[in-house]
Amino acid sequence: MSPYTTALVEEPHAWQESWDRQQEAYLPDREERFAALLDAVAAVTDGRSPRVLDLAGGTGSISLRLRRRFPGAKSTLVDLDPVLLAIARSSLGPGGVVAADLRKPEWVKALPNRDYDAVLTATALHWLEPERLTRLYAELRGVLRVGGVLVNVDHMPDRGLPTLTSRLTERARHRRDARHAAGAVLSWREWWRHVAADPTLGPLMAEREKVFGGNHAAETAEPVDWHIAALREAGFAEAGVLWRGGADAAIAALR
Ligand SMILES: C[S@@+](CC[C@H](N)C(=O)[O-])C[C@H]1O[C@@H](n2cnc3c(N)ncnc32)[C@H](O)[C@@H]1O
Repeated sequence: MSPYTTALVEEPHAWQESWDRQQEAYLPDREERFAALLDAVAAVTDGRSPRVLDLAGGTGSISLRLRRRFPGAKSTLVDLDPVLLAIARSSLGPGGVVAADLRKPEWVKALPNRDYDAVLTATALHWLEPERLTRLYAELRGVLRVGGVLVNVDHMPDRGLPTLTSRLTERARHRRDARHAAGAVLSWREWWRHVAADPTLGPLMAEREKVFGGNHAAETAEPVDWHIAALREAGFAEAGVLWRGGADAAIAALR
């Protein structure tokens, strides 16, 4: 076994840490978002150990924070990316990690439970086409217990502030580009270059190409009111904005 293999299996936190740093450069308020998600979990579980679906959970950033805050919590992480799934399995254990494609309605069959207290998802569902996302919201209602909560934090501009939103986005991009140029933090592309060079994760890149087909992001960024309307349409009892930061928001919906 190479030293790198040992690093992934025994110390997946090195990859987790570099993923977190890379993502934080795009989302400086990322921890604030996660705290808002976990507050919603606390609000619907009232001291009981939560059962959570970490949707498109990547390396496991949400599940790890969930387990830290609620030591008895159980989570199922669903994702499609073979590289991110390998990191998630190393840090969360193989039991709670499921490979499935959210573009296909059959993804639900891969789940071990249908009565989650919460479905949490961050910076991911903009990868789906809006039509597919509308259906997915209904499928997610179906895997929540009555009174359970769905929280989705993602790019969701406010239609009422187009000028300010685009200026804020531009300023954030400028700051981020400067950090990347100075080598303060890895960019998305550079992070994947590190993965490709790793003896354990690198060989999974070919499979990654296959599952995403080279074109993995729809990058639609529907406005926040579109999401709330879609959630009501999907049959949720309540739906609204839980958190807001610039062009991004967390919407929550109660079954
Ligand atoms: C930017 S990452 C966010 C991951 C994690 N939620 C976080 O905040 O660190 C977006 C995630 O969506 C996943 N994803 C994209 N399309 C998917 C699909 N069709 N099915 C399952 N997961 C998908 C990607 O593999 C990736 O892990």
